[in-house]
Amino acid sequence: MAIEICMGSSCFARGAGGFPAVVREVLAGRDPALVAVVGCRCHDACAKGPSVRIDGRHHRVVDGDALRALLLAHLPADDAGSAP
Ligand code: FES
Repeated sequence: MAIEICMGSSCFARGAGGFPAVVREVLAGRDPALVAVVGCRCHDACAKGPSVRIDGRHHRVVDGDALRALLLAHLPADDAGSAP
């Protein structure tokens, strides 16, 4: 799974700066080989931000709770705690 967090000024000003911490929290204990996380500049979706792409698909993520729910919906349920 590829997660791209927009760190452009518009998304950052609306809370995306806190998203990496949420991602780290959600991914804790999961196999790091299964997920790639990157911060990006503007996704050209400022009016629909804060923007997070998962496997190339845009999602408007209004806050950390919404991001947590989005990630959990995309992660395989049986992956939790599978990392050594
Ligand atoms: S700054 Fe995030 S989509 Fe433009």
